[in-house]
Amino acid sequence: MTGIFITFEGPDGAGKTTQVKAFAERLTAQGYDVVLTREPGGTAISDKIRSLILDPAHKEMADITEVLLYAASRAQHVQEVIVPALQSGKLVVCDRFVDASIAYQGYGLGIAIDQVAAVNRLATGGLVPDRTYLLDVSVEEGRDRLQARTGLDRIEQKGAPYHERVRAGFHELAARHPERIQLIHASKPADEVAEDIFADFTAWLTHK
Ligand SMILES: Nc1ncnc2c1ncn2[C@@H]1O[C@H](COP(=O)(O)OP(=O)(O)OP(=O)(O)O)[C@@H](O)[C@H]1O
Ligand SMILES: [Mg+2]
Repeated sequence: MTGIFITFEGPDGAGKTTQVKAFAERLTAQGYDVVLTREPGGTAISDKIRSLILDPAHKEMADITEVLLYAASRAQHVQEVIVPALQSGKLVVCDRFVDASIAYQGYGLGIAIDQVAAVNRLATGGLVPDRTYLLDVSVEEGRDRLQARTGLDRIEQKGAPYHERVRAGFHELAARHPERIQLIHASKPADEVAEDIFADFTAWLTHK
C-alpha cells in the first residue's frame, strides 16, 4: 500500500480529537491528500456500533461484548475507509485504533492482551499504523478537560483506577513499540502540542 497511516492515541481527554484536526489541516494545507477519520466510528455501520458501545444505559454490557463490538466496528472501518484510502496513496489520520483496545479492554478491563490482539488482527487483517502519537496527560487532567463538556459516556464514567490502568497500558505499549509509537507530552497548550507532533512527523518522514 502506498499511503501513510497515522494514528493518535491516549487516555480520555488527552486532546486526540483536537490534535488530529490540527494535524490534518496542516498537512492538507501542505498539499497532502488527507483522510481524517475516527474510532469507534468512521462509517455508517461503525457509527451504529459506536452508539451501542458508548450508551450510558448499557451498564450490563459484558467485557467480551465490548471487545468484540470494538473489533467489529474496526473491521468495517478498515475495509470500507482505511484500506481503500491507503491503496490510493492517501495520508490517513485516525483518532484511536488497535492500541486503544489493548489499553482499554486489555489493560483496563483485564482481558488477556494476546486475546485482544488476536481479535484485532482478525479485524484489521494485520494492518498496523506507520506512526502513532500517544498523547499523554494525567488521569485527573484528562478528566478535568472532559468535565467541561456535557455528560460522560459509558467508558468515561468508569472510575479512576480503571483509567490509571489504561494510561499505564499505553505507556507499556509505547515501551514495547518504540519504533512506531511516539510519546507526546500533552499537558501543554494545544498549539505547542501540535508543534511537537508536526516536528516529529517531519523528522520521521525524512528518515523513513
Ligand atoms: N492542550 C490542551 N490544553 C487544554 N485543553 C485542551 C488541550 N487540548 C484539548 N483541550 C480541551 O480538552 C477537551 C478534550 O479535548 P479532546 O476532545 O481533543 O480530547 P480527546 O483526547 O479527543 O478526548 P476523548 O478521549 O474524550 O475523545 C476539549 O474541551 C479541548 O478543547
Ligand atoms: Mg476525542
